[in-house]
Amino acid sequence: MRHLLSTKDLAREEAIVILDVAEDMAEVAGREVPRLPALRGKTVVNLFYEDSTRTRISFEAAAKRLSADVINFSAKGSSVSKGESLKDTAQTLAAMGADAVVVRHPASGAPDVLARGGWIDAGIVNAGDGTHEHPTQALLDAFTIRRRLHGAAARGHGLDGCRVTIVGDILHSRVARSNVWLLTALGARVSLVAPATLMPVALDRWPVELGYDLDAAIAAGPDVIMMLRIQAERMHDAFFPNAREYSRQWGLDDERMAALPERSMIMHPGPMNRGLEISAGAADSPRSTIREQVANGVSVRMAVLYLLLSGAMEGKA
Ligand code: CP
Repeated sequence: MRHLLSTKDLAREEAIVILDVAEDMAEVAGREVPRLPALRGKTVVNLFYEDSTRTRISFEAAAKRLSADVINFSAKGSSVSKGESLKDTAQTLAAMGADAVVVRHPASGAPDVLARGGWIDAGIVNAGDGTHEHPTQALLDAFTIRRRLHGAAARGHGLDGCRVTIVGDILHSRVARSNVWLLTALGARVSLVAPATLMPVALDRWPVELGYDLDAAIAAGPDVIMMLRIQAERMHDAFFPNAREYSRQWGLDDERMAALPERSMIMHPGPMNRGLEISAGAADSPRSTIREQVANGVSVRMAVLYLLLSGAMEGKA
């Protein structure tokens, strides 16, 4: 694995290797000195053209736990505001000796351009590009589901037969796209539930079932219900009912949570609009995995950086 740009590129076996290495990394995190020398002498650059809390901080924590040097670059306050291009920025990072570049960008495809442009000889990790993909979010979601299903015996398992319902602003969600490819590769059955105006067109090649009624989806008793953030900043021309109407029809409130089977996990990638797509009661309930997802993100990103920079999966994706 030279780059991680999309979960569509990952075969089941490759995804399981990443999740298993993340289990090893989680064991390291539990130790008194949670630091490994594995990436000593390597430099990881966090190149963020869009805001982030979870992803940027957890990549930084992951790189530091592997003893890499970390450079954080935020487009705000940089020479991007003076018109510097992605190519010139990449070449500047190359001159600084970046071994891996973790990139978040508002334009779908920007990490692919960086990986294929030949401007920088570094592993590229997509940390979220426009409405396209967010592969490490999907990996940490899969890791969290697998752990809740299999506990300490999770290694080697996929998610065979697990029924996952993803709800909300599918149209703008890179998290939904990455999860559809990854979770189905791991054997899960994925349903998408959204208002028709927030469902992408041309879904005929997606390996999913579609629904438009959240109460019917809940009555079907999913193992996992993953609520998505309403992405107001990307809404542009999409039709969005008012917040009260959206919450009434598409929000996971306390009443709907009570109608879910006891075993159902409640997920959200964050950041949340509490009271819109998810109630505080659902977000903070024992069935919610939201804080586990954040904690697991560090182990998963340690695994991705390690596999990329050690060459352990070279030629496999
Ligand atoms: N889930 C996620 O990508 O969160 P951030 O935008 O805070 O990184």
